[in-house]
Amino acid sequence: MSKVIAVANGKGGTGKTTTSVSLASILGKKYKTLLVDTDAPQYSASYWIKNGEDRMPFDLAQESDPNLLRQLKNVDDYEFVIVDTPPSRDSEALKAVLTSVDCIILPTQASDLDVQALLSTIHSLIKPSGVIYRALLTQIDSRSINEALAAQQAFIEEEIPIFSSFIRNYKIYKNLPSKGISITEAKGKKSGEAASDYKKLAQELLSAWQ
Ligand SMILES: Nc1ncnc2c1ncn2[C@@H]1O[C@H](COP(=O)(O)OP(=O)(O)O)[C@@H](O)[C@H]1O
Ligand SMILES: [Mg+2]
Repeated sequence: MSKVIAVANGKGGTGKTTTSVSLASILGKKYKTLLVDTDAPQYSASYWIKNGEDRMPFDLAQESDPNLLRQLKNVDDYEFVIVDTPPSRDSEALKAVLTSVDCIILPTQASDLDVQALLSTIHSLIKPSGVIYRALLTQIDSRSINEALAAQQAFIEEEIPIFSSFIRNYKIYKNLPSKGISITEAKGKKSGEAASDYKKLAQELLSAWQ
């Protein structure tokens, strides 16, 4: 049986696609992995992966039909299925995905507005789905560590599970989609540090949810 993991947040720009592609690249080296891109019509994850001429170590499927997405759990040829989702709470594709996954990663930036928006989405959409989930802080700037700590505290106070790993902000991420490479293959300033964040997340995820 596949472990099906959605990467979601009702908002855009929170790091869903970056997290989906990075995790699939790391898990794909060891486990048979499929990435499902449900974010029509832009299909950003697919754009990224296709720019790499399918050299990434996982398979890609594009699907946004809610009727088919409700059957994601029946995909059984893979050990991991990572599902990138659209940036809208009202998306029928997102709602369908949430009915058919084992767990949900919720990436968010650390600003108060981002955290409050995610908390509201968790209460209205994620908790009612009954699926286990964890928030993930992304794009954390080393100069605003206090903001990250406040965000962490806000989740803890509401008893919302949160990964202890977090993803730091590095310029190198911006060029990866056009080059078609994942953070683990990137060569450049701070690429090792950036990749190590997602490797730690993959470790935490494997010990929590495998
Ligand atoms: N850790 C990070 N550090 C710096 N930039 C990042 C990081 N994660 C994502 N980004 C950038 O932020 C933007 C939004 O990220 P993306 O993963 O596309 O978000 P979403 O899929 O939630 O809309 C992209 O330009 C991406 O390259
Ligand atoms: Mg995206």
